[in-house]
Amino acid sequence: MNTPILILLISILLFSLPLFSISSPHDTLLTPSSLSIPNILTSPNGVFTAGFHSAGQNAYSFSIWFTKPTSDGNLTVVWTANRDQPVNGKRSKLSLLKSGNLVLTDAAQFTVWSTNTNSIPPLQLKLLDTGNLVLKNPNDTIIWESFDSPTDTLLPSQRLTRYSKLVSSRSRSNFSSGYYALLFDNDNLLRLLFDGPEISSVYWPDPWLNSWEAGRTSYNSSRIAAFNSSGYFRSTDNLRFRALDYGIGVWRRLTMDVDGNVRMYSLDEKRSIWSVSWQAIQQPCKIHGVCGPNAICNYDFPGENAGRGCSCLPG
Ligand SMILES: *[C@@H]1O[C@H](CO)[C@@H](O)[C@H](O)[C@H]1NC(C)=O
Ligand SMILES: *[C@@H]1O[C@H](CO)[C@@H](O)[C@H](O)[C@H]1NC(C)=O
Ligand SMILES: *[C@@H]1O[C@H](CO)[C@@H](O)[C@H](O)[C@H]1NC(C)=O
Ligand SMILES: *[C@@H]1O[C@H](CO)[C@@H](O)[C@H](O)[C@H]1NC(C)=O
Ligand SMILES: *[C@@H]1O[C@H](CO)[C@@H](O)[C@H](O)[C@H]1NC(C)=O
Repeated sequence: MNTPILILLISILLFSLPLFSISSPHDTLLTPSSLSIPNILTSPNGVFTAGFHSAGQNAYSFSIWFTKPTSDGNLTVVWTANRDQPVNGKRSKLSLLKSGNLVLTDAAQFTVWSTNTNSIPPLQLKLLDTGNLVLKNPNDTIIWESFDSPTDTLLPSQRLTRYSKLVSSRSRSNFSSGYYALLFDNDNLLRLLFDGPEISSVYWPDPWLNSWEAGRTSYNSSRIAAFNSSGYFRSTDNLRFRALDYGIGVWRRLTMDVDGNVRMYSLDEKRSIWSVSWQAIQQPCKIHGVCGPNAICNYDFPGENAGRGCSCLPG
């Protein structure tokens, strides 16, 4: 090989260094570099993937999902940066800047989302085995993490706090923000809230019960809730429960579902399906706004949707 070609090859290599290599999965992005379709980050255990997830026709959101699709072929998304402002497939990118900021820009280079962080380089963006995407400064201190800003799902060890809430998706196929939320209320109780365009109301625990009747306490103002890898959920308002299949070795998630119920799911890895291992509301007709203003809810509908149906009011 003659020298000019060698120099050319070396310079190509050097120039391509900051680019993300597609061939092998990585768990880390370093400053300065960026991620665009089809680049992904994969957690070291392979369970989680971060990248651009399709949210409609040529609409993408930067998300984290369980790497393995479920048996119906869908991906289980656990976190999204820009759920209400999807970006184009082409030329959109997530960039880790020298300034320490992590920004998502669309094709027109508009900033759609950012972590608003700053730090001296080099920074590391890392997808951990827990499903947490963390941004670390040179001292290995976490300056931003996806676990602090959940969308509709909580993972084991992720804390729901006074600063965060789980908000449902619009529908099963539209991942933008819906109307149902799980959050800590002003009285320190963990509640389900319907926050629609016209009405807003709390529907769980039953609004006519006081806190102790509902088995809760309002005196601890820490406002922290989380579940551990055994499937034990605990909240500072004294809400406690165990997953039906309590024990370690099972992946679980707590999701604010599109139907207004909050459920814990456990992954059956052999069959690639999620099964419900706890749910907040046993009688779905108690969920606010479930049927819209001109319909009544009834339990006559058998089958998978928990026996709930809506019918129009006569007249
Ligand atoms: C999802 O719903 C929102 C709000 O209704 C709407 O603006 C958006 O266009 C929908 N997205 C898709 C992909 O249908
Ligand atoms: C890293 O730690 C050193 C020594 O503790 C400190 O002086 C410096 O400000 C820290 N840097 C960052 C980016 O936090
Ligand atoms: C799978 O995804 C499709 C398209 O996004 C959606 O219509 C369907 O309801 C999803 N299936 C489940 C079980 O969520
Ligand atoms: C409130 O809950 C936190 C977290 O569980 C606990 O550390 C703290 O001791 C509790 N405070 C009171 C007054 O019980
Ligand atoms: C989860 O919490 C329960 C109750 O505190 C405890 O008994 C169990 O050992 C915990 N599991 C793990 C994996 O830490």
